Amino acid sequence: MKYTVITGASSGIGYEAALAFAARGKHLILAARRTEALNSLKNKIAELYPQLDVVIRTVDLSIATEVHALYESLKDYSIETWINNAGFGNFASVGEQHLPKIEQMLHLNIEALTILSTLYVRDYAEVPGTQIINISSGGGYTIVADAVTYCATKFYVSAFTEGLAQELKSKNVPMQAKVLAPAATETEFAERAFDLDQFEYEGRVPKFHTAEQMAGFLLDLYDSEYVVGLVNGLTYNFELKNPIFPYAARAASQPVDSQH
Ligand SMILES: NC(=O)c1ccc[n+]([C@@H]2O[C@H](COP(=O)([O-])OP(=O)(O)OC[C@H]3O[C@@H](n4cnc5c(N)ncnc54)[C@H](OP(=O)(O)O)[C@@H]3O)[C@@H](O)[C@H]2O)c1
Repeated sequence: MKYTVITGASSGIGYEAALAFAARGKHLILAARRTEALNSLKNKIAELYPQLDVVIRTVDLSIATEVHALYESLKDYSIETWINNAGFGNFASVGEQHLPKIEQMLHLNIEALTILSTLYVRDYAEVPGTQIINISSGGGYTIVADAVTYCATKFYVSAFTEGLAQELKSKNVPMQAKVLAPAATETEFAERAFDLDQFEYEGRVPKFHTAEQMAGFLLDLYDSEYVVGLVNGLTYNFELKNPIFPYAARAASQPVDSQH
């Protein structure tokens, strides 16, 4: 049996992505900190698609030892798709940002994503049909005022994943790497980013997508041969694209150091 792993599946885009992949008949491994929310999603999927296996893992991905332990715990599963979706944002100027929250954001958005991508690529790059999809943001291609550090983490996600996609293509291995870059999406994101108990998107955010729409875009990206799925910041249309960042390929005959 083949599984789709989704981190951050207890709410928002990850939750809807789990339902969307379940509708495609995919067995799921769902990870986040909130066990109860994961369990209720598991029960919902069991009602809708009783033939599917749904495995849940409670894990705090901002702690590197837990990230490694999560991956280790999945050694017996065959993983077809890995989606690094767990992440959060913060709105504050750099000088005023709360460092403990920022450090946790760096650990989750950058460190966990890199560890999990590395381990998955190491084990599965040669397996036909495999994909790794990392969730970046429009803020992973445009720096947004008052969200500089969050955007920098997402520039990392975009650059890392585009670079990985280039690397996998140049090695001619079957795994595909892709990056989804949502714009404003109605989830728990704003509550966490602004440290609020509740946030109403309707009336406060001029344009936004629902998490269900974003999960639909994720499936469009999954089905395509493109590397980037980007929500256009002006039109809010979903656009599938080739890698956006410049990439300096290394000629086979060049010594390793000549590009540094
Ligand atoms: N919503 C937007 O406007 C927007 C725009 C661009 C990009 N994005 C990106 O989309 C992704 C999904 O966010 P969302 O909008 O769906 O927000 P969300 O509703 O807050 O979902 C975030 C998910 O990440 C999980 N998570 C957070 N901290 C974690 C930790 N330490 N360990 C494990 N899991 C953790 C949360 O689960 P637990 O709390 O249960 O751990 C939750 O399932 C993020 O990477 C975000 O940066 C969102």
